[in-house]
Amino acid sequence: MNFELFGPSITDLEINTVMDAMKNGWYGEKKYWYVENFEKEFAKYHGRAYAIMTPNCTTAIHLLLLGLGIGPGDEVIVPECTWIASATHITHVGAKTVFADIDEKTWCMSAESLEKTITPKTKAVIVVDLYGNMPDMDAIREITKKHGIYLIEDSAGALGSVYKGQKAGSFGVGSVFSFHRTKTITTGEGGMLLLDDKKIFERCHFLRDHGRSKEVHYFNTEVAFKYMPTNLLASLGFAQFQRVEELVLAKRKLLLFYREIFSDIPDLYLNPEPPEGRNGAWCTSLIFGHSHNVTKESVMKALNEKGLEGRPFFYPLSCMPAYGGASPEKEAKNPIAYDLSKRGICLPAAFQTDAQNLLEYCNAIRSIIGFQERKVTF
Ligand SMILES: Cc1ncc(COP(=O)(O)O)c(C=O)c1O
Repeated sequence: MNFELFGPSITDLEINTVMDAMKNGWYGEKKYWYVENFEKEFAKYHGRAYAIMTPNCTTAIHLLLLGLGIGPGDEVIVPECTWIASATHITHVGAKTVFADIDEKTWCMSAESLEKTITPKTKAVIVVDLYGNMPDMDAIREITKKHGIYLIEDSAGALGSVYKGQKAGSFGVGSVFSFHRTKTITTGEGGMLLLDDKKIFERCHFLRDHGRSKEVHYFNTEVAFKYMPTNLLASLGFAQFQRVEELVLAKRKLLLFYREIFSDIPDLYLNPEPPEGRNGAWCTSLIFGHSHNVTKESVMKALNEKGLEGRPFFYPLSCMPAYGGASPEKEAKNPIAYDLSKRGICLPAAFQTDAQNLLEYCNAIRSIIGFQERKVTF
């Protein structure tokens, strides 16, 4: 069996919209029409005042850190388990990256660990809505308010998630989304920064296009960045976004399928549902309880032996060579991240997944941990 674990849903709507941008989106008011309208609709959906489309989510984080004036001498806290993109630009703006542990229930940043990790140098915390899961936002908001630090929400993979009636991407001073090929809506590569504060918006907007003057062509007041989006990619995002509910529901259908297929096995954990909300389920992950006596490596090896690809739960960032490598002290500081990460894998998340293949994949996992295959008729 050979199928992709991640991939988008592209219909005639997307194809026709991109064709329109291709034919008509180059002159006059049309040349940034899709960028501006994708931004406008995306901000409105999330109840935010401003949106800035970027070439990817990583650059959106960079712009926000710059817009907040974070730099040398500052510390920024991120959760241990996330894709490195959440953290890379903390280094690039010259600040120090500090890792907080994750919470056993949410798999996102632990509020308790966050509070312990704050120092007088802490300027901001980047919480991550990991795989569509939501952190304990009430507690985290409270802590950031108490300590006067910026709350940044990395909602790269949380489109459609809701926490206590509030959409992912509407928390904190700013939030970021990814439209990578693997995400719920895609532009191939692309990102979005959402903001409410006009001054921060204007600063980030200015920094996105070489800090150019609005009044005089080719006149720059600062050495800035080139993080401009393209109208062509925005047209794809605009079309995909018209289908946001349909696509989130398709992702949730996968999560619900996994819940059902593994429902008879104790001590297995799938993306939790946030309180009074829903998990957008960009990528369903599976954590094996200790009683199964497996590691993500042993499960991925067994999957490979069956001809299947396995993807690991994110490694704790602090253990990687990029951040100086593992040490007993690092593991002791953030034990939950190190423990959960050892026992987690990501499950297939592609929109174009054959139901029979999916069942075979799940049955492969069941047999690896010593459970009988399930039969389902589609
Ligand atoms: C949590 C998280 N943050 C940031 C990113 C970066 O997104 P991009 O690849 O669009 O830069 C990703 C990408 O997967 C992610 O999972």
